[in-house]
Amino acid sequence: MEQYAIKGGNPLVGEVEIGGAKNAALPILAASVMTDETVYIENVPDVRDTNVMLSALEGIGVLMKREDRHTVTMNAANISTTVLVDERLKKIRASYYLIGALLGKYKQAEVVLPGGCDIGSRAIDQHIKGFRALGAEVVVEYGMIKTKAEHLVGSHIYMDVVSVGATINVMMAATMAEGKTIIENAAKEPHVVDLANFLNSMGANIKGAGTDVIRIKGVPRLHGTEYAIIPDQIEAGTFMFAAAITKGDVMVKNVITKHLESITAKLLEIGCEVEEADDCVRVVASKPLRHTQVKTLPYPGFPTDMQPQIAVALAMSQGTSIVTESIFENRFKYVDELTRMGANIKVEGNVAIINGVKKYTGASISAPDLRAGAALVLAALSAEGYSTVDDIRYIERGYEDFHLKLQSLGAQIELIETERDFQKFKLKTG
Ligand code: UD1
Repeated sequence: MEQYAIKGGNPLVGEVEIGGAKNAALPILAASVMTDETVYIENVPDVRDTNVMLSALEGIGVLMKREDRHTVTMNAANISTTVLVDERLKKIRASYYLIGALLGKYKQAEVVLPGGCDIGSRAIDQHIKGFRALGAEVVVEYGMIKTKAEHLVGSHIYMDVVSVGATINVMMAATMAEGKTIIENAAKEPHVVDLANFLNSMGANIKGAGTDVIRIKGVPRLHGTEYAIIPDQIEAGTFMFAAAITKGDVMVKNVITKHLESITAKLLEIGCEVEEADDCVRVVASKPLRHTQVKTLPYPGFPTDMQPQIAVALAMSQGTSIVTESIFENRFKYVDELTRMGANIKVEGNVAIINGVKKYTGASISAPDLRAGAALVLAALSAEGYSTVDDIRYIERGYEDFHLKLQSLGAQIELIETERDFQKFKLKTG
């Protein structure tokens, strides 16, 4: 079983290049089935979740050519089925985007129920409500979501909760419905906007993505396109916090600084210096970190996908901090692991009360999910002594070459498989 072996204590220093956004790539790849013409997509991150999506698409007959590691050409003119039973799809949340995409184009879809990180109950009622409002029948049975419609007809849909997934899914289906759809209380995340831009580049008529109200005029068909996916806001934020947590100096390149505003604001509050340029941001942590309060919120609020990373920083900051998780109810599972490294955190419901400690100490820990896994790696990088991090398959779901990028910033981190590898790592770094 692969693990990371880490020797903590090195400030991370240098430059790191951010890849394409996983959470934009997933719906964009799914939406590529909505045209019979060829689509050419650049900046696709080479991570587990996108690779599962690509192979599921290949499995239903999408012709696919990997032009290079991050560029793919796809043609879905001759797909053989709208039924997706690929077991691996259960592991990724975004498998449900295939429903909106296939329902939009073929007026039918059957897809295995989605999985993803175990961070809360993750209902899909708003997706179903949206599809039904467009005139589709939806049933959930035998572990599948099954939808079909004679015609999809535009509708006025109010989302009861702000949901990235439901906004994206309903937007895809409505793109090829007859007439106008209005989605109110829509999610405003950068990946929602990126998908709308992608669909518009294929001939869709979507306005207002990035605001609370998205207006869609259905079109009968979409055409091919060439498109580059936006940089990953969360990968960028993770490396920004890596600088803070290791008391380093990191230039994070290829970012959209506007997407990072809430993250930058918190780094400034806890005492880091942040310099922004056109498409990069430099974070320097030369002073002791200070406590603060943070609450996760839909965009443009502080992202729930950055909650574990900021908690790791706050748990080694001066004073008492409060972290409130308002999106998912089960997102503090990493706290036990962090406690084993010396953190002092008390969780009450969706609030973590953090009393800062001076330092972490190395331990054997496990990644409980994708983002928490990355955050624990950052804790281990700042800890005194050695750590191992297990279950790194979670981290590989969303971070490309995570340990290699960290190594290039001076981190002592290696992929190991056996206890012997760990001993060798210790000898090398001792
Ligand atoms: C997406 C992201 C995930 C991120 C999350 C919030 C992907 C693949 N995943 O997840 O990384 O943490 O947005 O930014 O892009 N809800 C309902 N009913 C629904 C749908 C959602 O009650 O039908 C609730 C959820 O339980 C949750 C909240 O709404 O409490 C937000 O969920 P949502 O925005 O849909 O998250 P995902 O799309 O699953």
